[in-house]
Amino acid sequence: MPNVLIKPSGELIELPRNSVLTLLEEVKETIIPFGCRAGACGACLIEVLEGIQNLTEANCIEREFLTTLGYPEECYRLACECRLQGDITIQPVGS
Ligand code: FES
Repeated sequence: MPNVLIKPSGELIELPRNSVLTLLEEVKETIIPFGCRAGACGACLIEVLEGIQNLTEANCIEREFLTTLGYPEECYRLACECRLQGDITIQPVGS
């Protein structure tokens, strides 16, 4: 199963392949401040420090949202819109 390393805390969480990252909330409530869970509020914005290729690709609506917020899709994602395909290292933008 892929690992999610959370910075700056250093917590390492194992999730099943193809999990939606909202599953992190069930493992540990406070890691990412999920809001709408539908790609509309931006509360779950994360910086992907390593392994962005191990997340499913952003759809056009997420890309447009990230662009509007001024965050490049090459290293930022909305966690509620991602499915995990391999190991990643992330940092919630709000932390
Ligand atoms: S929780 Fe609202 S955009 Fe992800």
